[in-house]
Amino acid sequence: MRVGPTGTLMRSMSFYVTTPIYYVNAAPHLGHAYSTIAADVLARHMRQRGEDVFFLTGTDEHGEPVALAAEREGVTPQELVDRNAPHFIDLMPRLNVSNDFFIRTSDAEHQACAQEVLSRIRENGHVYEGVYEGWYCPRCADFKTDAEAGEDNTCPIHRTALVREKEPNYFFRLSAFQEDLVRLFDEQPDFVMPRHRYNEARSFIESGLQDVSLSRSTFTWGVPVPWDPEHVFYVWFEALLNYYTALSYATPGEDLTERFWPAQFHIIGKDILKFHTVFWPAMLLAAGLPLPKHIFVHGFLLIGKDKMGKSAGNAIDPFQIMDEYGTDALRFYLMREVSFGHDGAVSEEGFKARYEAELANGLGNLASRTIAMVHRYRDGTVPGCPLDEELAAEIDGAAGEVRELLDVADLTAAGDAIWLRVRRLNRYVEEQAPWTLAKDSDRAEELDRVLASLAEGLRVVAVLLHPWLPESADTLLAALGAPDLALDGARMVPGNLGAISTLQPLFPKQR
Ligand code: MSP
Repeated sequence: MRVGPTGTLMRSMSFYVTTPIYYVNAAPHLGHAYSTIAADVLARHMRQRGEDVFFLTGTDEHGEPVALAAEREGVTPQELVDRNAPHFIDLMPRLNVSNDFFIRTSDAEHQACAQEVLSRIRENGHVYEGVYEGWYCPRCADFKTDAEAGEDNTCPIHRTALVREKEPNYFFRLSAFQEDLVRLFDEQPDFVMPRHRYNEARSFIESGLQDVSLSRSTFTWGVPVPWDPEHVFYVWFEALLNYYTALSYATPGEDLTERFWPAQFHIIGKDILKFHTVFWPAMLLAAGLPLPKHIFVHGFLLIGKDKMGKSAGNAIDPFQIMDEYGTDALRFYLMREVSFGHDGAVSEEGFKARYEAELANGLGNLASRTIAMVHRYRDGTVPGCPLDEELAAEIDGAAGEVRELLDVADLTAAGDAIWLRVRRLNRYVEEQAPWTLAKDSDRAEELDRVLASLAEGLRVVAVLLHPWLPESADTLLAALGAPDLALDGARMVPGNLGAISTLQPLFPKQR
């Protein structure tokens, strides 16, 4: 329960958001940071609304690529994943990401829970034994249909040779779910977002679903199939289940499944659309479990025209950028630069330009001059006078807009809505020219109103920006003596602020 804007008691909504779980056999790069920050912005915003939030991220540790890499390095797969998982575990606090749990699919609890759900799928009659023969890409850990295979039977993503595989497998009867999935897409047009990804998933389903391998028997690094120890589960089926299994053991002694399942949003990149929008709902239907509400599919970060990634050798190290510019600057750049749901190029020049224009000259300048003027003209105390109503009306619209936009994970438009207000406030400084008002003692009231309106407006944009810029927003709100982050408080209130402290530049320009 929480207290709503009108003083009534309101029930909190449970809000469960996930990122993909990352393969541990590559170092974290900016693409991984992108998915994670996006999910974090949603989680932080929902906490500001008083919702009951659970935010999950983690690592995907099984499968042939890991087994092969371990073999090459002369270590066991477990040793390899234990060595590599900390790169991702450490990334999260560095990104200032507020995940409630970090799942590793080598966790014993995940494995046991995944076995239980997959056994249920079999008991429900959706699994059979057969022999698989087809093209397989060890780097994708994925079989390719003849239509998907590139020229000369190469992987369309990695451009490396596909391997002809023939092995006894258990199969998941995906084909049996075609009609159910079409109905799901009919009934829930926002199951997959944005729309162009919904269309893509839908046409994949309508083109005809084939049954898929559920197990592998040529290597042993995976979750054992409980009814046949010669097999391990095909990594994707077990990995997808992480979203569900984590809730059963994330909080010791408490099962969170009832409270948080089904997830509100799975945030994923477009490369894993088929698994999440087709296989995953079919698996859940087969197990008799409720389906997630939305799968939001974002685009790729590009370097020039190419996808950034390990395979392309063009991956950017997020740690390096954060060492130089700070975590908030990286979060902000990624969320503002690449429209959520579309591909977008990233570059060092682009980063510097946005840092300069929006953080140093935009928000940073607004904050430092507002606070400096309150000190210079009013001895550091915000006047407790009425506010500029016209300005307040413009600023106050933002919270509702952001709320609606983030209900549909439109992070880009929500960021724009806030930024419009940051610009508005900077324009207000120029229009009102407090330095001129300060020269004329007859205009003291006017100056009071301008300073109070600016300080209050600054507070409101800081509250709204908190999910994007958690550290800077907190610093700014602390300087204003108003640390409350509740979204209900993101509107201008006269007499709200009193004595304020000084502020170091939030985004120094020297770089
Ligand atoms: N382990 C699987 C996911 C299993 S989820 C049950 C996987 N891992 S991954 O490490 O290869 O990539 C995961 C995600 O990282 C992608 O879906 C995407 O969200 C993100 N990105 C990786 N490279 C990216 C870009 N160049 N641009 C944006 N995001 C990208 O797939």
